Amino acid sequence: MLGNFSYHNPTKLYFGEDALGYLNEELPKYGKTVQLIYGGGSIKRNGLYDEIVAILKENGKTIVEDAGVMPNPTAEKLREGVKLAKENKVDFLLAVGGGSCCDYAKAVSVSVHCDDDPWDKYYIRFEEPTCEIVPVGCVLTMAGTGSEMNGGAVITNHEQKLKIGHVFGDDVMPKFSILNPKYTMTLPKRQMVAGVYDIFNHICEQYFSGEDDNTSDYLAEALMKSVVHSSLIAVENPEDYEARSNIMWSATWALNTLISRGKSTDWMVHMLGQAVGAITDATHGMTLAAVSLPYYRFIMPYGLKKFARFATEVWGINPAGKSEEELANEGLEALKNWMQTIGVAMNLSELGVTEDMIEAIADATILLDGGYKKLDRDDVVAVLKASL
Ligand code: NZQ
Ligand code: ZN
Repeated sequence: MLGNFSYHNPTKLYFGEDALGYLNEELPKYGKTVQLIYGGGSIKRNGLYDEIVAILKENGKTIVEDAGVMPNPTAEKLREGVKLAKENKVDFLLAVGGGSCCDYAKAVSVSVHCDDDPWDKYYIRFEEPTCEIVPVGCVLTMAGTGSEMNGGAVITNHEQKLKIGHVFGDDVMPKFSILNPKYTMTLPKRQMVAGVYDIFNHICEQYFSGEDDNTSDYLAEALMKSVVHSSLIAVENPEDYEARSNIMWSATWALNTLISRGKSTDWMVHMLGQAVGAITDATHGMTLAAVSLPYYRFIMPYGLKKFARFATEVWGINPAGKSEEELANEGLEALKNWMQTIGVAMNLSELGVTEDMIEAIADATILLDGGYKKLDRDDVVAVLKASL
């Protein structure tokens, strides 16, 4: 483990079929007025909304409804949510949904007691919160982003054609998150596999960096194997509780900062995917899947050793008699086969991207330098074209 680092995660997790009951332990710790944040209606259809409203009422809370958080929450919606929270002087934000609701709740939390425009302050000027932060809790209904135990809050601005994440500190992370794998079972299959690929790629983003022998990489390999194993069971039988529970728990540990300790981390698949999302509004996990293989083929020569290790340790490929390059290629081939088996988007055309959109996507792509090769704009265009 090279370098110096600290590790602290303040989010308390309640996991399992009985987890929702712990809302009764958590809610009394916070004030009376709760902004209940949810999406387009899945929680009304599966009954979770009624259960949560009943618990809030039992705990004497006043509910401020904040419905309609869309996938890839927008700056406009964020401004509305902040206005609602200000007007009602809310004490607590309870997000019930996937990463979009959790992210949005965090973005609202740092903006309620602030006069600045939240998009400008946190997503353009990248400032840290300077005002009182309203506490957030999450009831997660989709496994993928890790938002339930991290400080990330990704917001999309369609006007500016930008989708940007701000990773806030400990004081913005959810105070608690309730993770009941059963809630994820009403997800449409496409959303489930998009989430699975999101998890897998979060691990890759941290794994494909650095040359040292690092415990984080061993943890990453174990998580990747669990995700692959459980996803193959879950696509065959979405009702398999064991598989769905493993996917949910892996999602949390894939992006709660544990496996990034001692790593520089890459995150370029996410930068490309977010740029695709900014232009197309496509499902997050699918945008990552569509650009991954061309990106990894592009950087493979610069991180050959790690790609060879990925092949043997994650995919169980026998290294006997093979060069590092052959192994690395077989590893990416195994990744491709798994992606096809679970049914994620294999190219950008499937997401409605056409060649004339490439320049705008490249414009929206933020270039990072933590991975094996820093891309320049021409490289980005080349990877995007190869992803079409
Ligand atoms: O809105 P509803 O009706 O609830 O439907 C949602 C939505 O349409 C549906 N859904 C969720 N749980 C369901 C369900 N449908 C049926 N049954 C359930 N149990 O699924 C759809 C997608 O939900 P969403 O929350 O958008 O998905 P996800 O969890 O993938 O979140 C995506 C957002 O998170 C950001 C993404 O960029 C995107 O904006 N990310 C956040 C990160 C973080 N905080 O660290 C990191 C990630 O890399 C990612 O960027
Ligand atoms: Zn992601």
